[in-house]
Amino acid sequence: MQISVIGAGQMGNGIAHVFAQSGHGVTLIDVSEAGLDKGLATIAKNLDRQVTKGSLTADQKAETLARVTTSTEIAAGVKNAELVVEAATENVDLKLKIFKDLDLHAPAACILATNTSSISITRIAAVTKRPGQVIGMHFMNPVPVMKLVEVIRGYDTTDAVTKAVADLSASIGKVPVLVNDYAGFVANRILMPMINEAIETLFQGVGGVAEIDTIMKLGMAHPMGPLQLADLVGLDTCLAILRVLHEGLGNPKYAPCPLLVQMVAAGKLGMKSGEGFYAYTAGSKDLIVAPAFRK
Ligand code: CAA
Repeated sequence: MQISVIGAGQMGNGIAHVFAQSGHGVTLIDVSEAGLDKGLATIAKNLDRQVTKGSLTADQKAETLARVTTSTEIAAGVKNAELVVEAATENVDLKLKIFKDLDLHAPAACILATNTSSISITRIAAVTKRPGQVIGMHFMNPVPVMKLVEVIRGYDTTDAVTKAVADLSASIGKVPVLVNDYAGFVANRILMPMINEAIETLFQGVGGVAEIDTIMKLGMAHPMGPLQLADLVGLDTCLAILRVLHEGLGNPKYAPCPLLVQMVAAGKLGMKSGEGFYAYTAGSKDLIVAPAFRK
């Protein structure tokens, strides 16, 4: 299948990686050449991990990379696509603009999927002339590792499109789970209030960063604590999702913690900016609490 992926950031390059590894031709599209180069370098680095572990051969790595081409133009990048997966920044105006463009330039039969973490599929579909072919395909970070694809049906999404996307997800080794289109769907409706509550617990001084994360890791068997997970997802993304939940469901319990709002304003976005609840150094896996939260 020929698949175009919009956005070469942490979700987009992971989505391109898993499709290309399963034999699909992928066009990775981003506004900047620098973004594309960084995305391709990340795919190569993550494929190397698999080669080192023995789950992939060096030849399979080379074949996977050879299946990925790049483009900085939506029109050229989607002209032969059978499926587009949009994984741009979590910003509704940007997504609406991209979907208008996709609808103009992608072939009539092409399915338009979005990896949005929380924005209404129905609203995105409504700016196209093919709402029956618009669907949510929500991958989890890190994409090559996490098994889930949350498949979200918009108001008009057809049965045939839903089945095609679920079957495709299963064929690349993922487990599709079908849900309906309300703010945050299922994954983030449950995950983000937990992350927000962890931040509120820190904000109120009930516990420190390491204490909160250790409690959830050792007490609840979570693979990483909620504050470390917030850093992995990106604090700007967490804030954007909480705002969609707050506005979309109209319940004050989803209001983002003031500490999260302040950290995003300060540019402390987690791993991608080098600092969030923890401080990150390239090449190091050590988990060091960020200076602002050291006792
Ligand atoms: N690409 C490919 N492989 C990767 C990888 C990547 N980016 N990151 C990790 N791996 C592989 C490693 O090679 C390793 O493989 P093996 O077990 O086969 O050796 C395995 O994953 C585990 O990695 P590590 O040993 O380096 O580290 P770990 O055991 O601490 O696991 C983790 C890392 C998989 C990220 C784990 O901590 C985890 O599951 N964390 C929770 C992740 C999570 O909750 N994700 C969902 C976020 S929410 C989201 O994405 C949706 C949203 O809308 C916000």
